[in-house]
Amino acid sequence: MSKNLRFSSHAEPDKKLIFVGGKGGVGKSSVASALAWRLSRTYKTLLISTDPAHSTGDSLGTDPHKTASRIEHQDHQLDTWELDSAKAFDDFKDRHSDELQLLFDTSTYMDQEDIDQILSLMIPGIDEVMGLKAVVDILKEGTYQKIVVDTAPTGHALRLLFMPEILNHWVKVMANMRWKYKTVQKTFKGKYTPDDADDMLLELKRTVSRMQKILVDAKASEFVLVAQPARMVISETQRLFDKLKEHKVAVNTLVVNCIAPDSKDDFYHQIFMRQKLLLTEIKALFPEIDIISMPLFPQEIVGIDKVEMFENQLFDYS
Ligand SMILES: Nc1ncnc2c1ncn2[C@@H]1O[C@H](COP(=O)(O)OP(=O)(O)O)[C@@H](O)[C@H]1O
Ligand SMILES: [Mg+2]
Repeated sequence: MSKNLRFSSHAEPDKKLIFVGGKGGVGKSSVASALAWRLSRTYKTLLISTDPAHSTGDSLGTDPHKTASRIEHQDHQLDTWELDSAKAFDDFKDRHSDELQLLFDTSTYMDQEDIDQILSLMIPGIDEVMGLKAVVDILKEGTYQKIVVDTAPTGHALRLLFMPEILNHWVKVMANMRWKYKTVQKTFKGKYTPDDADDMLLELKRTVSRMQKILVDAKASEFVLVAQPARMVISETQRLFDKLKEHKVAVNTLVVNCIAPDSKDDFYHQIFMRQKLLLTEIKALFPEIDIISMPLFPQEIVGIDKVEMFENQLFDYS
């Protein structure tokens, strides 16, 4: 069976969420764009970039000033969205400002600035958490059959993936704060009636379990790794792979990008030989997943024509 067959399995109808991740600059946005473009030929697809550097927009040549764009080319289209986690967090605070006020006011008086500070200091990464919440909300809406997430370099991607725990912890802290208030209410009023703040906490808890379910369900989501044949990249990719496995996230594919061709020129031949050796090492290090080698192209992968060229190579490689 040729390697590209399993890679095509991203097109399984049930699998909705595909993360693309790896070290900075290895080709994540190029792979994510090509994969999303391929999926958009069959499915209603959304490509989300969570990288503050926002390079899917660079790959596909979308308007850098717009957060949402639609790329139409020949007979199909792809929607793209540059997700700003800090803004997602602000939106959440705006939407729930009354509930948050209620939540904090019930123990002690705080103004909006205090609340802002408490929320961002208390749980590091809460803005990224809200970013992934936005992804899950889109998934739930059901507008898209496939969502490809072009993640920020390794650290960010991990934070995004482990956010269920972060968010769970956050909800617990909030619930504890409420506990005192509830006890006082019960003592003086004889009973406690849940309010909007309780509803908000409940909604957050539901979001947490939804996300956890999606991330560990190999039928619903998977993580595509991207690397290059360089030792430092390989060790970081391995750490990411181990973390993902530890969290039971499905990883089936590693794309090794920018493989140089052989050459009669001694300098380029040496590079070819070095990469060949590293590729053998990579195959030994990741025996359980498919390794797809992508050649180094003379041009950058910018614009839909180049993305299509990259796509063809990515899917037809054998
Ligand atoms: N196989 C390749 N051949 C040539 N250029 C590539 C290749 N893959 C990626 N690039 C280019 O390398 C740069 C980094 O790739 P990108 O996909 O933006 O990486 P990342 O998203 O991981 O930072 C971009 O300019 C991109 O066009
Ligand atoms: Mg990128």
